[in-house]
Amino acid sequence: MRHLLSVADLDAAEATALLDTSDRLREALLGREVRKLPTLRGRTVITMFYENSTRTRVSFEIAGKWMSADTVNVSASGSSVSKGESLRDTALTLSSMGADCVVVRHPASGSAHRLAHWVDTAGSTGGPRIGTDRAVTGTPTAIVNAGDGTHEHPTQALLDAATLRDRLGGIAGRRIGIVGDVLHSRVARSNVLLLATLGAEVVLVAPPTLLPTGVESWPCRVSHELDAELPALDAIMMLRVQSERMHGGFFPSAREYAVRFGLSEDRARLLPDHAVVLHPGPMIRGMEIAPAVADAPNAAVLAQVRNGVHVRMAVLYHLLAGAPE
Ligand code: CP
Repeated sequence: MRHLLSVADLDAAEATALLDTSDRLREALLGREVRKLPTLRGRTVITMFYENSTRTRVSFEIAGKWMSADTVNVSASGSSVSKGESLRDTALTLSSMGADCVVVRHPASGSAHRLAHWVDTAGSTGGPRIGTDRAVTGTPTAIVNAGDGTHEHPTQALLDAATLRDRLGGIAGRRIGIVGDVLHSRVARSNVLLLATLGAEVVLVAPPTLLPTGVESWPCRVSHELDAELPALDAIMMLRVQSERMHGGFFPSAREYAVRFGLSEDRARLLPDHAVVLHPGPMIRGMEIAPAVADAPNAAVLAQVRNGVHVRMAVLYHLLAGAPE
């Protein structure tokens, strides 16, 4: 694996290998007084976030530190990005400083792919010598997509798959509902692709206004009736309503959205007893999910966060230390 840009680049065997590595790293750290493995000693991981984040940015930093990498955080507001420096120049600057991996979150769909292209081709066409220098002096910089606009969030889908494996014992043949603002959700797209690759049956439940054009070609079924779907689900993933990406009215009111598409306590009772409740966070309690449902024993929200660290360790490991035997 050279970069991690999209879950579409992973087949079932590659995705399963990442999840297995995540499990092994979790086991390796279990019970240790000092949570430190020497695996990535001497490697440098830079997180470059142009959008706000708590879970993804911090867990990548923890993942790097627990494997002894040197980790550096760059935020748009505190860097030369605020002076007008382009994404390309910023990325090549970090690459030339010796970044072995750049983890990037950016509001533009496709930005991580552009970054990977620039890092891979810099110096090859008479441009800056950065890429050439790194090709000679060390490993080329790997790019990890930590969320690009409304396109993809591959490590979120991997940590969700890890959590579903833990809770359900497997993913193949399971029916997973993904509910809410699919239109603006990179989490939904990555999850649909990865869960289908791993053999799950996925159903998207959303109002027509919150579905993207072209959803018919996704490997899933679409429904607008949440109550009718609940009794047959093995897991339900509630999506955040991304009001910061909404320009216009997508539903009449927050209250009406909650009534039709929120996971209330009454609605959660329609789920089978074994069903798992997921939310990628941050949660808007009371709108997408009732507080009591988010905190119930079958909710896996904090397990998702915990798995996020191990999955991101696995991604860094596969990119920077080579895939395990
Ligand atoms: N789920 C997720 O990406 O959360 P953050 O925005 O806090 O990273």
